[in-house]
Amino acid sequence: MTRSAYAAAQPDAVALSERVHWIGALDPTLRTFDIILKTANGTSYNAYLVRGSDGVAVIDTVKEAFAGEFFTRLESVADYSEIRYIVLNHLEPDHTGALPELMRRAPQAHLYISVRAQAMLKALLKHDQYEYTAVNTGDSISLGDRTLSFLNTPYLHWPDTQCTWLEEEQTLFSGDVFGCHYCDARLFNDRVGDFRFSFEYYYAHIMRPFREYVFKALALIEPLALKTIAPSHGPILRDQPAQYPAHYRRLATPALSSEIGGEKSLLIFYISSYGNTARMAEAIYGSASEVEGVRASLYDLEGGEIAPFVDLIEEADGIMFGTPTINGDAVKPVWDLLSSLAVVHTRGKIAAAFGSFGWSGEAVRMVEDRLKGLKMEVPVAGLRIKLIPSDEELDACRGFGTAIGRALIGEDEQTVVDMA
Ligand code: FEO
Repeated sequence: MTRSAYAAAQPDAVALSERVHWIGALDPTLRTFDIILKTANGTSYNAYLVRGSDGVAVIDTVKEAFAGEFFTRLESVADYSEIRYIVLNHLEPDHTGALPELMRRAPQAHLYISVRAQAMLKALLKHDQYEYTAVNTGDSISLGDRTLSFLNTPYLHWPDTQCTWLEEEQTLFSGDVFGCHYCDARLFNDRVGDFRFSFEYYYAHIMRPFREYVFKALALIEPLALKTIAPSHGPILRDQPAQYPAHYRRLATPALSSEIGGEKSLLIFYISSYGNTARMAEAIYGSASEVEGVRASLYDLEGGEIAPFVDLIEEADGIMFGTPTINGDAVKPVWDLLSSLAVVHTRGKIAAAFGSFGWSGEAVRMVEDRLKGLKMEVPVAGLRIKLIPSDEELDACRGFGTAIGRALIGEDEQTVVDMA
């Protein structure tokens, strides 16, 4: 169904309850969101209207190009003069695109944003005249017989993100949290098609890098007596809503840690054209494995695929990359893996690079720069060996592996050793 057909088939607001309406927009033809996210089902920009005995609140808006649908649906359930509050759970343009026009139509409305959103408001909306109140967990606003209270949930997936809880309806307006790019005009999770893949795909690309913040948000959300979760994308979750926070908890929980116990996990990735970098990798692997408290693993990138390696790296404490230098650069399989790590949390992991080279040997330094760019700790300067490693140079590799292993268990962590 085309976008206009969707809009025409369902022009009015949709009731979640007598006092709560969906006033969002459907974008069924979208196939790529924010450059990185694919969607086979388009998406929705969910916005909501809550009517209390003492005024109306609008929660989030829509992407600017969809403002027409949003205003048509809003007008089907409220007059602009009734709007006293506008809550922005997240300032990204897919949820604030219609805000300037909404403020023009409802100039009496007061904005509520998270504390961290303040720094973004002017930069994103190019407007410094809006009156607003910054809110945090525990703050609330009264609509008379309805109350909106706020849960600060930063980094899910921007610093500014928050959720809004409507106590009397047991409804959580969760912003991007528990959302997904899945467009279905039937709106509710007990009516739409199978969106499980979209839900997990969205989590993997949007929330996964912020696992520690997922747990912090869940600590606020799980105690709520949820009747409905109303996210800003995808189906409204009214059937068994509690299963979605539980699913986030499963997705965020490391799977490997229980198997390796208290040991530090060190992954050594390498690729080798003539076997020289491979010999270095094996020597490093052997000595690192002998450090008590370290569980080392060795992987030839030639025999693996990116996605499972990314999963392993997410849970690892340390990562090493071995690469030859070819034409002044590290080789493509190394870059392919390194460029796939934006979806996982890498800050603070111990990392190192090594490799054999023929002429100039730039690859090790280039990989180190990337590791540092990913906010990893590089406690030992990279090890480069010209062509075939000698016995003495293999000893240096063993020393390199030991140094990284000791850094992993907290010994010599602050010492930068130049093994090159
Ligand atoms: Fe749906 Fe992060 O905006």
